[in-house]
Amino acid sequence: MKKVSLTGIKPTGSLHIGNYFGAIKPALDLSQTYDARYFIADYHALNSLKDPAELDICIREVAAGWLAAGLDTEKVFFYRQSSIPEVFELTTMLMAFTAKGLMNRAHAYKAALQENQAKGDDHDAGINMGLFTYPVLMAADILLFNSDAVPVGRDQVQHIEMAQDIAQAVNANYKEEVLKVPQAVVTESVAVVPGLDGRKMSKSYNNTIPLFIPEEQLHKLIMRIVTNSQAVEEPKDPDTSQIFLLYKLFASQQEQDDLAKRYRAGGMGWGEAKKELFRVVNRELSPMREKFNAYFNDRKELARILEAGADKARAIAADTLKRFRKIAGID
Ligand code: ADP
Ligand code: TRP
Repeated sequence: MKKVSLTGIKPTGSLHIGNYFGAIKPALDLSQTYDARYFIADYHALNSLKDPAELDICIREVAAGWLAAGLDTEKVFFYRQSSIPEVFELTTMLMAFTAKGLMNRAHAYKAALQENQAKGDDHDAGINMGLFTYPVLMAADILLFNSDAVPVGRDQVQHIEMAQDIAQAVNANYKEEVLKVPQAVVTESVAVVPGLDGRKMSKSYNNTIPLFIPEEQLHKLIMRIVTNSQAVEEPKDPDTSQIFLLYKLFASQQEQDDLAKRYRAGGMGWGEAKKELFRVVNRELSPMREKFNAYFNDRKELARILEAGADKARAIAADTLKRFRKIAGID
């Protein structure tokens, strides 16, 4: 039997280059050799996105993004989390095996808590139960499908470890492998894609290069990347240049070697380096942009694709849940 690869993306904003290289591309590579289940984590998004029109746009953007990036719906089960009621049933069962202390240690919750403390606010201000129990819902997403591999960026590894802990607590209680213990798959070379300001690219930092913006806007954004003040004639170190780090994601080995030489030789300014970066980025993104727009604007077709994926996914989900309920004595 083939191994299972599963991942989800939370629809809370426009997809960016970090999502593409850190999550989507590695996942699509894995789908060549694994049975893949990729989904849109819309209930996870609800924790922070309460505007229905905005949420609807984000869901369609993420769905169209996966398809534009090449997801093959014949091979991959592609669905919305909200279409699989078993996810929520399993979440409730997993709650019974999840230590509250484990949730206290989750990075996202801890960060929210620390922010409140720093501001002198009530510790719980602005923190909903969805945020606090986020890792349990995520564990249910993963464990329901007997996942072996979960391709994610480095920031998600803690969540996968929590899913492991929860699965192990279940298995230890019943002294059998009720739930498969998953492994995170982090592609090291792209684990952290830098943003326009040098920090991790993230929609929370407002430093992203969105995947599907029009060409002129892409050009403008790339020209805005922050650089140091080295003059044109000075030799530059490609290994510490964030422009070069981004270039490496899009360029062939030959192109990387050639440009690295030009950096080291001096005589090339940052403007020129950015122009070269724009060329390779646009080369990869422009065919995807067209597909993205077509899917994004075809609501009916998107709904059809996601429902067909959900139908296939539900069959597996029902199976896992039935087995777990029986073992738990809730038949
Ligand atoms: P954001 O940080 O912009 O809110 P998400 O948390 O929605 O992004 O991430 C969706 C997926 O993309 C996750 O698997 C995450 O690890 C990955 N990812 C996000 N930003 C980056 C980045 N800068 N480099 C590598 N992977 C990333
Ligand atoms: N928490 C993930 C993120 O923010 C999204 C997600 C939800 C996920 N459920 C998942 C990722 C299951 C992998 C597996 O990006």
